[in-house]
Amino acid sequence: MTRVMRSFKAPLWSLIILFCCYSQVWAGQKPAQAAIASAHPLATQAGHEILRKGGNAFDAAVAVTAVLAVVEPYSSGLGGGGFWLLHRASDGFQTMLDGRERAPLAAHRDLYLDEQGEVVAQKSIDGALAAGIPGVPAALVHLTENYGKLSLTELLQPAMAIAAKGFAVDEYYRRMASWRLPVLQAHEASAQQFLLQGEVPPAGHLIKQPDLADTLKALAERGIDGFYRGELAQRLVDGVRAAGGIWTLQDLADYRVVERRPITGHYQGMRITSAAPPSSGGIAILTILNILQELNYPDLSEPQRTHVLVEAMRRAYRDRAEYLGDPDFVQVPVEKLTHPLYGAGLARGIDLQRATPSQSQHQATSTEGQDTTHFSILDRQGNRVAATLSINYPFGAGVVVPGTGVLLNDEMDDFSASPGVPNVYGLVGGEANAIEGGKRMLSSMTPTFVEDAQRIAILGTPGGSRIITMVLLGILEMAEGRGPQAWVSRPRFHHQYLPDVIQMEADALSETLIGQLTGMGHNFKPLKNRYGNMQAVVWDKSSGQVDAASDPRGVGMAKTE
Ligand code: DON
Repeated sequence: MTRVMRSFKAPLWSLIILFCCYSQVWAGQKPAQAAIASAHPLATQAGHEILRKGGNAFDAAVAVTAVLAVVEPYSSGLGGGGFWLLHRASDGFQTMLDGRERAPLAAHRDLYLDEQGEVVAQKSIDGALAAGIPGVPAALVHLTENYGKLSLTELLQPAMAIAAKGFAVDEYYRRMASWRLPVLQAHEASAQQFLLQGEVPPAGHLIKQPDLADTLKALAERGIDGFYRGELAQRLVDGVRAAGGIWTLQDLADYRVVERRPITGHYQGMRITSAAPPSSGGIAILTILNILQELNYPDLSEPQRTHVLVEAMRRAYRDRAEYLGDPDFVQVPVEKLTHPLYGAGLARGIDLQRATPSQSQHQATSTEGQDTTHFSILDRQGNRVAATLSINYPFGAGVVVPGTGVLLNDEMDDFSASPGVPNVYGLVGGEANAIEGGKRMLSSMTPTFVEDAQRIAILGTPGGSRIITMVLLGILEMAEGRGPQAWVSRPRFHHQYLPDVIQMEADALSETLIGQLTGMGHNFKPLKNRYGNMQAVVWDKSSGQVDAASDPRGVGMAKTE
């Protein structure tokens, strides 16, 4: 009898335990801690300060965005744009705030062509003509008004204080400023704000931005009108036009944040939620994962895995070039491109022994920079934010508009200036991403959530065209059971269809593997520098534990508390 009881009791207990575990999850179990990972310690600290004051993850996101705009002028700013992927714990609602820049209404498809119809690349990179209409200020207001608990004044306070008092130059700043020195020197207000007597400031020098502090104050006090209408708008338009740009007051007054439904899909029992168009990130990641799923990626040998992964990347970036653009202007076939059957079809076209050559060889140069920025936030209620923000190239267009402290983006370079002509990241595009007044330029920024039975991850990174494959490699690390430290530090490789090469960090692939892949027809381009600056947070739902990691390539800080 006892034996019978015992053998009966064991499964009963396990059933009870299992039920308790699951019901806790179903009842919306809360994380034991909050976590923030961002590319700068001051931003991470400001976010935690807001959480301590009773703000939620969305409030913290406003503070972190604003501080990054002050302390990482080479990466993001009020003059730039971005995507904020949100998850609200109370009802599971998910959305993507699209604060991407728009082309000024006077922009047209031939904006960067000379009289012979050739692209003049520098025109979409340096100077005011390269700048789209900024989305960050509108997104800060939208996020606060629709999702936050605290006032915009409270949330912008840390950024205002740092802009006024100054932040210390570090080696990272010096590297970025050295890279963009000529264009910063060419514009008086930029040199005034970011250089010291016309040269890169020494480490420890304080960068004070009183005009930017005033602009933040105007935004805090007057909301959207503080930036997009009235005196500041007039100053922005005058300054941009004086520097050769084409902005009008109407461009600013017309700017709107758009909420978009994130891209979702599954891979190996994980649910992926990622950026929607005008980002290409979510779609490309799902196309690749659907191909991998079809080919049983985890069961393949190492050379086969790398081969299949590269072939999947190649195909996703080919589709990016052909189909993707601003969904308000072009019909993006989202359903098709993210459907498992479409991935299966692409998988069938992959020769498991040979590389498929991309159609032609473009010898594009591509930056190895780490400008643009990402942060990940989880609060104690389980609200989440993954946000990737940009002004594009380091220090954007290099132009500070006098009297505003606003550094202009050069995001217009993300449009396809001419069919098949690569942009600064070597990306090609066509009609779907052609320049048009009021249109948003296609992006690679890929803020992402990943959930499996046990964990919820929040991740993303800067890195131009390589953002998508970095996030992908992070997801694959998670699928293999590794934690956030592994995702952010893993050596990286990348293929983007054109140029037809595997770009890689020096230690990403072994000599033996490179030999095997070369034999299959792949070409390699080892990169001089490491790339990316991933920020990740993970919450283990079964234990409640929270972990966070900041890419060792950058100077960021991940902190739980
Ligand atoms: O939106 C995009 O795809 C680019 N403007 C991002 C630029 C970037 O990540 C630069 N970092 N190296």
